[in-house]
Amino acid sequence: MPKILINLDHVTKSFQEAGQERLVLRDINAQIQQGEVIALLGRSGSGKSTLLNILSGIDAPSSGNITINEIELGKLNEHQRTLFRRQHIGFVFQFFNLIPTLSVEENVLLPLELAGRLTEAQRERAYELLRRVHLFDRRHVYPDKLSGGEQQRIAIARALTHDPLLILADEPTGNLDATTGEEVLNLLDEMSRQAGKTLLMVTHSLEVARRADRVLSMIDGQLVEHSVAEVAP
Ligand SMILES: Nc1ncnc2c1ncn2[C@@H]1O[C@H](COP(=O)(O)OP(=O)(O)OP(=O)(O)O)[C@@H](O)[C@H]1O
Ligand SMILES: [Mg+2]
Repeated sequence: MPKILINLDHVTKSFQEAGQERLVLRDINAQIQQGEVIALLGRSGSGKSTLLNILSGIDAPSSGNITINEIELGKLNEHQRTLFRRQHIGFVFQFFNLIPTLSVEENVLLPLELAGRLTEAQRERAYELLRRVHLFDRRHVYPDKLSGGEQQRIAIARALTHDPLLILADEPTGNLDATTGEEVLNLLDEMSRQAGKTLLMVTHSLEVARRADRVLSMIDGQLVEHSVAEVAP
């Protein structure tokens, strides 16, 4: 039986703006199963990144509950949320967010070092991921020497090194040309599927959405489910 990895229960999020409350997420109820690859569509400003921030524990909802792998995020304090994120979440961002003062290898090892458990076996696993993204030979180079697509491949390896429960990707191809974006996406999709990871990917591309198991849109602060036929060519 498929296991429910994420449960969103009456989740709302509002921000204060010029003394007024702006409701961004309105009473979201949703479940995501372990191993699902989900595309999240929605207009700019609709709340996609806000939802990702809440799922990763970077931000807390205004009300409602989030459970990930039976861990209730609302019951964690900020420090515990940070530990939760380091241990269980892998991120891929639009602008890669590699650390410029660290080499490729050091960037990929960072999640393990932050989790305080870098063993030889884990280093070998990180090397294997670097081979998978075809950048093992360039592991001593610094990110500014790499192309955008190469940097994003490093970010994918980094998102997987610590064997997270959930990978969150916020427009991972938004800053790449179409061909490179396609390559990066293939890699992200393939590597997270092979590892049995749950992947939630924000995208503006229907091309990307088509390959997902499920397609959701953020509309008026709520998650709307689409059938695959709706995004089919
Ligand atoms: N920290 C914050 N303080 C105040 N308002 C915020 C904050 N973060 C987000 N918002 C507001 O919440 C709304 C949703 O923002 P969000 O970044 O989640 O949109 P998005 O769907 O990711 O958009 P895009 O596709 O442009 O990245 C926006 O109106 C934004 O101004
Ligand atoms: Mg965003």
